[in-house]
Order: sequence, then structure tokens, then C-alpha cells
Amino acid sequence: MHVFPDTGLDRMRSAHKVLMTTPFEPMQLDRGYANRTLRIDVGACKAETHPVSRQMKDLWTGGKGFDLWLMLKEVNEKTKWDSPQNPICFSSGPLGGTASFPGSGKTLVTAISPMTDSIIDCNVGGNFGPYLKWAGFDALVVTGRAEEDVIVLIDVTGRKITIEKAPLESVDSHVLAEELTAMYALDEDDKRNIAVVSAGRGAEHTRMGVLNFSFYDWRRQVARLKQAGRGGIGTVFRNKRIKALVIRCPDMTPKWTVAKSPVEKIFSDNICRSQLATVDLARIKMIMDKWNNDPEYVIEMMQDVQEQFRYLPKDALDAMSRGLKLSRGQLYHIATFYKSFSLKPLGETVIQVCMGTACHVKGAPRLLDAFERELGVKSGETTRDGKFTIDPVACLGCCSLAPVVKMGDDILGSVTTKTVPAILKERSAGGRK
Ligand code: FES
Repeated sequence: MHVFPDTGLDRMRSAHKVLMTTPFEPMQLDRGYANRTLRIDVGACKAETHPVSRQMKDLWTGGKGFDLWLMLKEVNEKTKWDSPQNPICFSSGPLGGTASFPGSGKTLVTAISPMTDSIIDCNVGGNFGPYLKWAGFDALVVTGRAEEDVIVLIDVTGRKITIEKAPLESVDSHVLAEELTAMYALDEDDKRNIAVVSAGRGAEHTRMGVLNFSFYDWRRQVARLKQAGRGGIGTVFRNKRIKALVIRCPDMTPKWTVAKSPVEKIFSDNICRSQLATVDLARIKMIMDKWNNDPEYVIEMMQDVQEQFRYLPKDALDAMSRGLKLSRGQLYHIATFYKSFSLKPLGETVIQVCMGTACHVKGAPRLLDAFERELGVKSGETTRDGKFTIDPVACLGCCSLAPVVKMGDDILGSVTTKTVPAILKERSAGGRK
């Protein structure tokens, strides 16, 4: 296993106390089914497998059907959302994890909802469901309530299931997914074989907590999240004192890198090559020094980086993560939350076409179309020469001038499709309106 000296992962891992270990053998699928389900009781610290019958497949098929069947076996009329017996069921159908059809990577999740006290289901992306299927389980039932926060690890590589006390990891999903992906991966390539299910701090204080399912984004090199958002199943999850479910699969996804990927050409052709130059880390250091290397000012630092580079380069975020002792998950969380930040290089001039109501009724969609046709790029894209990026936005706050376009810092009012070529020509020549 790797050592992670500067992120505290070793300290977190050494605080784990294994409460239960159960060996298991992964199983090949037969016509879309593994023909067994996994049941984990975090209160009794037990993991056991159950067979899937012919009748279950014929009548309930999978996904929502399996989940409902399993729910019916677990609950009775006295079971409430916060009863330890309230199961959280995860399941996918015979096409689950095949990646053959749109939606076949989804997982169905059910539980008795804290919001309605009846059974709720939701579906979710992320890698947990497909990995569970490939490990040889058609469904997972999690029941019981642990005494302290625990992590359940389904380690397909190590052929064992463990329940571990985990007191030090963050509860917040975007940080926890990063921590556990790094903790259980052997190396950078192995991170794509880890999937984490968690519920954030909000799930402890509301009845509408969501469940977050991670997948490792090898392009951004960060764990990203998909949500099972309906009915408050995240609240049930935290009520069981489960910090995370983690699954670790052996090399199930290709070891692509941006450089080796067949999409690399498309990817790099779409961004201005001159802007791919190595980031000057001294400039990043100067920005961090300017703000006394205080993580409190991380947004201000990111604004400075965005201003200098016209985007947030990955190298810059890595340097800030190291220098400020913040996880990359926290930085990407900020970078993807605020619209003013971009992870792709932007053009010298960002053309913001207002799509607010006043501008919309005065022909903003036609205007946007005119800019796209004139520049030969779609909304959100940058021209090959790196001069322009088209960015449709909500109300720019000067509706009386509708339709409004913002070119860099200049506001242009009453723009028409006929004036678009002249505006672009003037701007290319360095002019201002
Ligand atoms: S709707 Fe366009 S500026 Fe307000």
C-alpha cells in the first residue's frame, strides 16, 4: 500500500478498527445475473449471501423489482424510516454494468423514506452499482445500525468484506470520496477501481439527505459524485452510522490517460494549444504568498489564478492543494460550483450572450445562433485561435438594453444578428464598443 505522508491518510487508516471480516469469492455473471445477493447487517456485524431464485428473476427481473422484493422480505408494518430494520437496497437489472445501452450503468436504491414513511426508490450513476454486479452480486441489502461510524469495504481484489470503525475521516462526501479513493487505491491507476457511497453532513440534520455515489474522473484526476437524491435515503444511511460503503474492483476499467486515450486528439484540438504550456508554478506561489498561504482565502487565490491564466490549470490546483493542505476534492468543488471559474482555457474574449427573459423575448436565441455560426463553435467552446469563447448566461442586469451581449468587460445593448460579424471584426482588430 502507498504511504500518504502529507494528507493524513495514514493517520486515518491507522485509527480504523476492523470489526468483522468475511471472505468471499467473486462470481462470473450468467446471462446478466450472478444469482446471489449480499446482505450486510452493520449492527450485528454480519455479511451473508443469499441465492436468487428462478421465480425472483422471472417475476421481479432486477433493479426496482429486486429492490422491492428484498424490501418486502425485510420490513413489516412496524418498520419506520429510523428503525434499524429499515433496509437500504441497491440493485441493478440483468443489463446493469454492461455499458451497452444508455442507463445500463444505473443503480436503483430503495428504503423507507424519512419524508413519507413509505418506500421510496431513486436511481443513480457512479461506479458502485456496476462494480457490485461485476463482483458477482445482483443486489446489496444494508440493514441494522452501527454503534459508531463505520465503513463497509467490499474488497473484490482482496476477496473479503470488512466492517471497520472509521472515526477520523471527513463526513462531507466530496472530501470523503477523495480520502477513501486515495486510501484504498494501490496507486494512481488503481483509483478508477474504487467507488464510494456516502451521505454528507446535511443528511445528519435533515430528512432529505442524498446518497452520493463516486466515480474517479481520470481526466480531472479527482473523485466525482452522482446523487441518489429522492426521499432522504442519505438520512437513513447516516442514521445507520454508516460513513461509507467502499467497493474495490480489480482493473475493471481501462487504464486510460489523456495522452494515450483515443479521444485525446478531439480533446486537445478543442482547446488552444498555446495555452497548454506548462504552468509557471512560481506565479502560483506568488499568488498564494500574496494571501499569506491562508486557506481561508482560497477563493480569492483561485480568482487570481483564473485572471492570470484565463482558467484554473490542473497543475495550479495541485500546487494549491499541496501548499494549502486542502484536498483536491475541496478545490474542484469550488471550481465547479462558481460559474466564474473554468477548468478549460477560455478565449481572450469571453462573449456572454444574455439568455434572461427580457433578452430571450427580444431574440437572444437567434443572436446566440449567429455568434455560433460566425465563429464555427458551439456554446461553451473556444475558437481554435483562442480568441473567443461563447458563454450563454442568465440576466446581465441591464434588461432595458435587451438583447444584451457582454464582450469581455464591454456591455453591448440592442445587438442584432446583422451586427454580429461587424462586432467580431472590430473586436478581433482590438476595438472596443
Ligand atoms: S434579461 Fe438580459 S440583461 Fe436582463
